[in-house]
Amino acid sequence: MNLVSLGDWLSLCHGLHIPTVPAALVGRLPFAELERVFDYQTVSDHTIRTLATLAEPQPGTMLRWDCCAPLSIKHALAKGQPDWQPTFSQLEVDDPRFVEIVYASGLDPIVIWRRPWLHPVVIDRYPLEYRIFASRGQVQGIANYYSQRPLEETPEILSDCETLATYASRLLTEVGSFSADFIKMPDGRLLFLEGGPPHDPANPWSAHPCCFAPGAIRGIALRPQPGAQSF
Ligand SMILES: Nc1ncnc2c1ncn2[C@@H]1O[C@H](COP(=O)(O)OP(=O)(O)O)[C@@H](O)[C@H]1O
Ligand SMILES: [Mg+2]
Repeated sequence: MNLVSLGDWLSLCHGLHIPTVPAALVGRLPFAELERVFDYQTVSDHTIRTLATLAEPQPGTMLRWDCCAPLSIKHALAKGQPDWQPTFSQLEVDDPRFVEIVYASGLDPIVIWRRPWLHPVVIDRYPLEYRIFASRGQVQGIANYYSQRPLEETPEILSDCETLATYASRLLTEVGSFSADFIKMPDGRLLFLEGGPPHDPANPWSAHPCCFAPGAIRGIALRPQPGAQSF
């Protein structure tokens, strides 16, 4: 299991009966071909065809690298724009965040996924989304993912946290330390969005602690805790 591979996480969730945002395979790029692209070298016809599909507009969907979403999506949602959607292809091979993550990931080939663009529950302009943190076989905490917008302790949100704790303990049967993000749908489902490494305050590549202060993940954080870093 590679903790930054969406494909690995989706297989895990399917086996554990954890509902997911679906993803369809679009293509695979060998890492050596990606490096040739970065280096302005000639690439194979397969690579050219794969890169061409990234430029085709597909309304109502998004493209995603196996290891991360495009920076443009992250930026747009971080501004609190619930009506924004990726109208045109948002997957650019020279996305600086992708380039950094893919080199650190060890992934080869790099898988490209297409997902439906969801319309989750929105509260005060931000999607209702959570990150669960687990370390060394234990659930450490559950955070409101969008710390820009604090959440109240409503019955819905507390019940979401209970559901998330059960999903976390299922995931712990297969992975000891991780972070995992879930998005809330208007029909009440909490869908697995993506997973990653656990939070480690000493490692800038580890999971962002969201509403928790770095190194202080404990319990439930619905609003920024003292010392929390904003995005
Ligand atoms: N299919 C989707 N529909 C709606 N929003 C999405 C979808 N996929 C991702 N998002 C939003 O975009 C953000 C970034 O996407 P994500 O898959 O978590 O990538 P990353 O690894 O780059 O954080 C998510 O936190 C979520 O708010
Ligand atoms: Mg994410």
